[in-house]
Amino acid sequence: MAKALIVFATRAGETDRIANLIAEGLRFSAVDVKLVNVTDIKTEKDLMGYDALVLGSATYHGEMMAKMKTLLFMGEKAELEGKVGGAFGAFGWSGEAPDRIFDTMKNIFKMNMVSASLRLKSSTIEGGIRMAQDYGREIGKKLEGK
Ligand SMILES: Cc1cc2nc3c(=O)[nH]c(=O)nc-3n(C[C@H](O)[C@H](O)[C@H](O)COP(=O)(O)O)c2cc1C
Repeated sequence: MAKALIVFATRAGETDRIANLIAEGLRFSAVDVKLVNVTDIKTEKDLMGYDALVLGSATYHGEMMAKMKTLLFMGEKAELEGKVGGAFGAFGWSGEAPDRIFDTMKNIFKMNMVSASLRLKSSTIEGGIRMAQDYGREIGKKLEGK
């Protein structure tokens, strides 16, 4: 069974909700999922041993949250090349964080990324729930194809 790690950075809980919906989508695809808050990642070793890594952060003041930036510096040493990746986050109007994370995973970590990041204004509307679950399924499909 393929293993995936989802790490989220949130202030008000919305990015946590999206992370849980992505986890549901991955589980539909029979992937073993671990879901953790970014505060639980202490060293690059905590990012290792998974077939897929999915990172999410809310956007505040045009940026990802500080702890996710720290994690991305850690990730450089985590031997993630070729692993399946995705990035996501809740936002209000500009939503920079998911694309910044996605680009780092692609260009620095050299991960095998899904088509794009997932940016959601709300995970509570029906369309948002479906989009987040489908993002998990897309990652699951990419894992099957490996
Ligand atoms: C002080 C403050 C600053 C924010 N700055 C941005 C911003 O620059 N761009 C944006 O798209 N949303 C911004 N937002 C909206 C949040 O990204 C949005 O509420 C999001 O759902 C929060 O996610 P979270 O619940 O995971 O923390 C801001 C919200 C607050 C309270």
